[in-house]
Amino acid sequence: MSTQPIGIFDSGIGGTSIFKEIHALLPFENSIYLADSKHSPYGNKSKQKIIDLSIKNTEYLLSKNCKLIVVACNTATTNAISLLRSTYDVPFIGIEPAIKPAALNTETKTIGILATKGTLASDLFHQTTDLYSNGIKVIEQIGEGIVPLIEEGKSNSYEMKDLLTEYLEPMIEANIDYLVLGCTHYPYLMPVLLELLPKHVKIIDSGRAVAKQTKTVLEQNQLLNSITKLPENLFYSNTNTTVLNDILDNKYKVDYLAF
Ligand code: DGL
Repeated sequence: MSTQPIGIFDSGIGGTSIFKEIHALLPFENSIYLADSKHSPYGNKSKQKIIDLSIKNTEYLLSKNCKLIVVACNTATTNAISLLRSTYDVPFIGIEPAIKPAALNTETKTIGILATKGTLASDLFHQTTDLYSNGIKVIEQIGEGIVPLIEEGKSNSYEMKDLLTEYLEPMIEANIDYLVLGCTHYPYLMPVLLELLPKHVKIIDSGRAVAKQTKTVLEQNQLLNSITKLPENLFYSNTNTTVLNDILDNKYKVDYLAF
């Protein structure tokens, strides 16, 4: 049974929301997390640029002997995962906006989705939306400016509240009853979102589903770590490590890495 680490990457610190879900479900797995904050945000970059950065992150994690890669970024998943899967031998787990559960459960037949430009423009996102949104109004909103503020440690700032007020107003007016968070940085907006949204609006993200899928794929490939001792969970950032440390409540080893 494999003691090799799970590799996780994101355009920055947002994918730690996915790491936390995976760690809660698979507490004995070793892991390496790569925060490519230097190139954040990915959301406004071209598809080719997102692919190039995803390849670079993947190759670093493979050089560290990772047994499976979690692309903990909706933008990188929707633009690059099919190419990654066809290029490398290890299993890849991706994350996509949870349109399906929102579309299946909405009573007002109106749902909102907040995601990056790169995710909302991707073919994969359109395919999923077309599949589930029959008879449902999907209000798409690009979260321009949100990721940079989170990367600066300003998730709970007045600037963030102003931005989110602007983005959510049309959704509230249209009577959404579900808001889909289509970016792994956004779960860190929960306190502000709960303050700004009417009580009946449910907020959903895909973090738990990604953790479950990671477990299933490890089991299927007989890659689960059977050694039940405290794992090694390493974190690397290619910018200042302070915000990454803060978001992890200073519980892990966080190092600077030039990449
Ligand atoms: N966490 C990334 C995502 O899930 C943020 C993308 C960005 O850097 O713009 O899409």
